[in-house]
Amino acid sequence: MTTTGKPILVLGGTGKTGRRVVAQLRARGFSARAASRNGETKFDWHDESTWDAALDGAGAVYMVDLVDEAVEWDPAVSVRSFCKKAVAAGVERLTLLQARTDEEAGGKSLTGSEDIVRASGLRWTILRPTWFTQNFDEGVLLDGILAGNLRLPAGDGLEPFVDCEDIAEVAVVSLTEEGHAGQVYELTGPELITFGQAVAEIARATGREIRYEAVTHEQYVDELVSFGTPREYAELLADLIGQIREGKNAYLSDGVQRALGRDPISFAQYAANAAANGAWRV
Ligand SMILES: NC(=O)c1ccc[n+]([C@@H]2O[C@H](COP(=O)([O-])OP(=O)(O)OC[C@H]3O[C@@H](n4cnc5c(N)ncnc54)[C@H](OP(=O)(O)O)[C@@H]3O)[C@@H](O)[C@H]2O)c1
Repeated sequence: MTTTGKPILVLGGTGKTGRRVVAQLRARGFSARAASRNGETKFDWHDESTWDAALDGAGAVYMVDLVDEAVEWDPAVSVRSFCKKAVAAGVERLTLLQARTDEEAGGKSLTGSEDIVRASGLRWTILRPTWFTQNFDEGVLLDGILAGNLRLPAGDGLEPFVDCEDIAEVAVVSLTEEGHAGQVYELTGPELITFGQAVAEIARATGREIRYEAVTHEQYVDELVSFGTPREYAELLADLIGQIREGKNAYLSDGVQRALGRDPISFAQYAANAAANGAWRV
């Protein structure tokens, strides 16, 4: 239930943030629907016939869109249509996951759903995180870590990696407590670190030898493509990593502190927790 007593629909409910939003909501006694193509509740952004049942009776929604997936995605169509259905279904609140970058990557805006949600008539909160720490154990960086050699076009750029547990907790309070409507939370970890430092921290936490190697944009794209990644998606990732190399992400934001009244989880804490949970066991 939300504060209105209705269930909360969590899109991307099997993903890095959505799974944690579901778990944290349930731990606090709220009813949460973990929705995605393979989730407990069936929801497919590309199949509107799945939307009504997912929305039925829901009081709030956590929204993960498809902007960083290797698929066609037009928020002006999908997000607008979804928000209309949500309003009609009686949803009151919506918390949207976007990204802190204002720059395009792979020719796409990563914040293209924001204006649509703001104009939806729903009580909205927007989360703009930086790079997730969980990319290292659940995402795009995992293979390199397991291979013991993470090759990225990040140079010595600094990034304030943020833990998805923090993102999820901000989502949960925005969906269930007062005081977060109309807020845009830029979410970062507590420190700026390089990929070299991040990898060294994981090496320390796991006791394994792992190195970081800076490569060029072109080398990275070609490598991903040779492993079967669609070129467009490889370019999007390389552009995002290029923003780090160019120093564009090298500043901290205070969204976790403002929303939760505490400091964010550090990279060292993240690495220790993930290693203790067997994240990088080979
Ligand atoms: N990774 C980062 O460092 C980072 C940083 C800042 C912002 N972001 C933003 O975070 C968002 C991604 O969130 P996330 O990392 O929580 O997700 P994620 O771990 O990448 O998981 C994607 C989720 O979307 C679901 N999904 C995929 N295709 C779908 C479809 N056609 N219809 C419905 N659901 C679908 C997946 O479940 P199924 O496969 O079961 O459908 C899964 O639950 C993007 O908007 C990205 O821009 C990411």
